Amino acid sequence: MKDFLLFSGSSNIPLAHEVAKILGVTLGTVDLSRFADGELRPWIQEDVRDKTVFVLESLSHSMDEHIMEIALMGDAIRRSAPKNMIAIIPYMGYARQDKQHRIGEPISARVIAKFLEVSKYKEIIALDLHNDAIVGFFQIPVTHLSAMPILQQEIIKLNLDDPVVVSPDVGGVKRARNLAYQLDVPLVVMEKKRFLDKHDSSEAFQIIGDVKGKSAIIIDDVISTGQTIVHSAQSLTEAGAKKVIVAATHGLFAGSASEDMDTAPIDSLIVTNSVNHEGHPHPKKMHEVSIAACISQAITTIIR
Ligand code: R5P
Repeated sequence: MKDFLLFSGSSNIPLAHEVAKILGVTLGTVDLSRFADGELRPWIQEDVRDKTVFVLESLSHSMDEHIMEIALMGDAIRRSAPKNMIAIIPYMGYARQDKQHRIGEPISARVIAKFLEVSKYKEIIALDLHNDAIVGFFQIPVTHLSAMPILQQEIIKLNLDDPVVVSPDVGGVKRARNLAYQLDVPLVVMEKKRFLDKHDSSEAFQIIGDVKGKSAIIIDDVISTGQTIVHSAQSLTEAGAKKVIVAATHGLFAGSASEDMDTAPIDSLIVTNSVNHEGHPHPKKMHEVSIAACISQAITTIIR
C-alpha cells in the first residue's frame, strides 16, 4: 500500500474521522486559522513529500468558504512536493448550476471544476454529482461514487408494502429508474414546474403512474429548501399514496426546510452524511446513513 495522508477541511470533520478510522490512520494535522480580517491561512503540519495526499471537503454550508479552504490547502500541499494530490468532495456545491438556464448566468459547476484543477488536484473523488455530465467538466480523472446502494439497503430494511419509486422531477428519472430496477418495483414520475424568476421555489403538478394505496419512495440527489420533496409528498398523499418515504444523498436543509419536512406527510427521511448535519439545522425525522465505507473503498483502490 502506498504511503498516504488524509487531511480534512472544516466542512465535514466527523465524516473525515470516520473514513480515517476505517483506513486505520489519523487525520493529517492542518491549522486552519484566519487573519484578523477573515482571510484564511491554512498551514499543513505534516511532511507530504512523495506521498499520496487526500483532502476531504464537502462544498456545503458555507460553500464559498469551503471552496476557498480546499483551494488554499491544495496550494499549500503541492508546494511541498507530494506524489499525488486527490480531492474528496462528498458534496459538490454549485453542481446544480450545470448549464446556463438563461442568458447572463454562469455555468458554475464548470467553474468549480476548473478551480479544483488550478489548485493542482490531480484526481477527484465525488459522490452523486447532480448530473453525470459534470464529470466531463474536469480534465483530470474523477471517481464518481454513488450512495444509491447504501440508500437502497436502508429502503429494503423498511420492508414496505406495495412500493413504487418516484422521481420528483423529469431530470431525476434515470436515478429513479435505476433504483426501481434494483428494487424490482414500478417507476412513477412527477412533473415539477419550476419558476425561473423565483430561485428555489417549485411546484409538483402532475403524477405519471399509479400511487393509490402504494408506499411511494421519492428518490433525489439533493434536498435544499425541501420544497421539491414537500410538494411531491403532498401531491402523492392527495393522490392516495398510503406512505411516503424520502431518500436523498445530500441533505442541505436550507432555510425552513427542516420544519417544512417535519410537518410534511413524510413517513421516513433517509439522507447520507455527505454534508455534516452536526450543529446544523436538520429535520427531526431525518435518518442519516454513512458513506464513510464507500469513500474509504475509493481511497483504497487508489493507494493499493
Ligand atoms: C433538482 O433538479 C434536484 O434534483 C433537486 O430536486 C432540487 O435541487 C431540490 O431542491 P429543493 O430542495 O430546494 O426543492
